[in-house]
Amino acid sequence: MKKTVNVAIMGIGTVGGGTYEILTKNHDFLLRTQGIDFQVSKVLDKNIDRIRYFGIPENKAAATVDEIAADKSIDIVVETMGGVEPAKTFIEKVLLSGKNVVTANKELISKHWPALEAAAKKGGAGLYFEASCVGGVPIIRALQEGLQANHITSLVGIINGTTNYILTKMTEEGMSYDDALKEAQQLGYAEFNPTSDVEGFDVAYKLSILASLAFHTCVPYQMIHREGITKISKADIKAGLELGYRIKLLAIGKRKGNEIEVRVHPTFVPAAHPLASVGGSFNAVYVNGDYVDDLMFYGRGAGARPTGSAIVSDIVYAAKASGPVYSDFENNGQKADDIVIASDFSSKYYMSISVKDVPGVLAAVTGVFARHSVSIESVSQRSFGSGAAIVFLTHTASESDIMAAVEDIEDLDDTNKVESLIRVLA
Ligand code: NDP
Ligand code: HSE
Repeated sequence: MKKTVNVAIMGIGTVGGGTYEILTKNHDFLLRTQGIDFQVSKVLDKNIDRIRYFGIPENKAAATVDEIAADKSIDIVVETMGGVEPAKTFIEKVLLSGKNVVTANKELISKHWPALEAAAKKGGAGLYFEASCVGGVPIIRALQEGLQANHITSLVGIINGTTNYILTKMTEEGMSYDDALKEAQQLGYAEFNPTSDVEGFDVAYKLSILASLAFHTCVPYQMIHREGITKISKADIKAGLELGYRIKLLAIGKRKGNEIEVRVHPTFVPAAHPLASVGGSFNAVYVNGDYVDDLMFYGRGAGARPTGSAIVSDIVYAAKASGPVYSDFENNGQKADDIVIASDFSSKYYMSISVKDVPGVLAAVTGVFARHSVSIESVSQRSFGSGAAIVFLTHTASESDIMAAVEDIEDLDDTNKVESLIRVLA
């Protein structure tokens, strides 16, 4: 028997628009395959032109969130406004009114998941956020419903479309950072404020959510080591290519016993690694579980249609679920007492140092490495005028040893500066 489910959308921009398009254009297909007649019955946006742009009848425009919360005919509310406030207040209101909420808002989930979950429990409603991580790729569903058998040991991903688009354009077309960013914004991948994407905040928000789900314990986003891509130069990209690497902004999560390592930074990825070929706005997550071994999830990580696809998947899920399911760990926004978030980690490193081209400078630098137990895999030097650039690749070393070495190298008489320090995926 046909079931009608009424949906409200709060925020009809890129993702809200994609969601509306799928629910209307694929209405009959969803009815036939899922047995549900989805109707978008209310839309809230502060800009009426957006509502008109999508051809939505103006009698569906809600004036306030209270109108949506009070409307007993609405079953599911989609939040695609973005940001923390008023999105948090709006979501809490509709959850408390007993309506399921579907959101793409990773910033909000990573910062206020406990409060939202509490409101959902109080209202007897479900809170769904597949679209918050990795756009159209159903990674959350895979972690929660496909991989329960496993202890997830690691999760390494390219989980931001904007930065992957920028780095790919800089690598493959020699495009400038600014031009590539502009294109990503025009294509609807970038956040309104690009700082969140290019400084790695967006990735840290997503990694906090994914690591919490994968490792079954709260991983607060503030505890994630985070670096963005703004310091990456064309010279770094060229040097990486010469050494057989592609540069990617990686999210890395690992769990060993009760220790969790979580970090976000630009990384040289060996060209033969499956993540190296993930280009443009595509994202991928490489997961290892103790029984399933390696898996890679790949697809578009941003944009109206892929993200709309993830939202609609949650809408269908919520409409068909027998009841809401909440976190399987204590979701209080704090690290659990028995969990250690690693403050140090190990990696291989690429280091480019500008030096005076004088006798003994190489020996002085290698002496510093030796003092800090950093073993060198390869070294090359290029002279120009009175200066030179020495490029090292190290064997696996600890971050703390490398940082101490950087400080001492910069203090040497004949060195100028460590120009680049990029971790290398082993
Ligand atoms: P947009 O800016 O394109 O759309 C947001 C819409 O919500 C705009 O129309 C905006 O109006 C409206 N809005 C904002 N605040 C309010 C408010 N207080 N009341 C009513 N309407 C409001 O954003 P996106 O669609 O790109 O992103 C939405 C969410 O989806 C964010 O949380 C983002 O992180 C997430 N996301 C985005 C992806 C993408 O590819 N773009 C992919 C995955 C997740 P106005 O423009 O006038 O401010
Ligand atoms: N700005 C984000 C990105 C949107 O580029 O990946 C998807 O979360």
